[in-house]
Amino acid sequence: MISIESGIVFGPELCGCIHKLNPSHVFIVTDSVVGPLYGPKLKNSLSCLGCPVHILEFPAGDVHKTRATKEYLEDQMLQKSAGRDTCIIALGGGVVLDVAGYLASTYCRGVPLIMVPTSLLAMNDASIGGKNAVNTPYGKNLIGTTYLPQATFCDLDFLETLPLEELKNGFVEMIKHAIILDADFFAFLQTNAKALLNLDMSKLAYAVQKSCELKMLVVRTDTYEEGLRRILNFGHTVGHAIELKSEYRVSHGRAVASGIIVEAAYAVRKGYLQPMVLEQIKALFSSFGIETMACDGFSEKDLYECMCMDKKALKHRPRVVIIKEIGQVESFDGAFCTEYDVLEMGIL
Ligand code: GLY
Repeated sequence: MISIESGIVFGPELCGCIHKLNPSHVFIVTDSVVGPLYGPKLKNSLSCLGCPVHILEFPAGDVHKTRATKEYLEDQMLQKSAGRDTCIIALGGGVVLDVAGYLASTYCRGVPLIMVPTSLLAMNDASIGGKNAVNTPYGKNLIGTTYLPQATFCDLDFLETLPLEELKNGFVEMIKHAIILDADFFAFLQTNAKALLNLDMSKLAYAVQKSCELKMLVVRTDTYEEGLRRILNFGHTVGHAIELKSEYRVSHGRAVASGIIVEAAYAVRKGYLQPMVLEQIKALFSSFGIETMACDGFSEKDLYECMCMDKKALKHRPRVVIIKEIGQVESFDGAFCTEYDVLEMGIL
């Protein structure tokens, strides 16, 4: 179940949803930035449950998305004698949702999970589809599971205090969903970029709803990424390489937007996509103020090496999702990606 509105998290809806699960303990898992802002308010709004509600906080930031953090949280729960009839609420951005999702999937072999994303990026991505993970010194998101939440509550009120750059990270995922799945939604984003950036709440509610529904459609068809779900990775083969090479100084959104342009340009060179469509995609990013030249300064060789470590790579050769037009991807007999021809990369 996905609920998208304003004022739903601290109202009766979330409490009602958890009540049906009849838990003995509820743990709000959050980080040191979001926790102090919203943790106590959320805890108070759950007083109707009549069971202990605990707040578990860990230090904010990607560097804390680790096995050690998960272990720390597990120990806190074990100390409170929490059993299988426990419910975990993940309150925060992508890092919190990933850690809490992984925690919920293995605690007592799995306890119910409710997602409460507080960033636009997390609403569009980590809160849906059940992918979770932690980082290791060997790479990002290498250890994790696929574990679907019971419900996701996207409260648009959280977005009012979000910095513009954070909002843009979320709009990149939204634009990606439109490019790979829905030409009408792409046209909506073209017409309404300014209103969305200005947080016009009715337009934003429609856009978040649409974007989440599009992602859900894919996840329902291929939860464990055996084929179709790979299309959600459009722009990420190159995008992740940019993030890695920049040592994460380039934001996820800017890296993926740049990756989308590089991968769409590749589709043009390979004859799958009309050049005019590439220009439309560039123009859409530009109308959201999203910069797409993050490849600058990296050599093709360096990026290619990182792309070989991408999860879609086969036998150490990177693969890429190919779009044919707005809203349509090439199937490649159900693989939904194809080998990235190094001779025609043309990244820069
Ligand atoms: N973020 C890509 C996926 O959920 O499959």
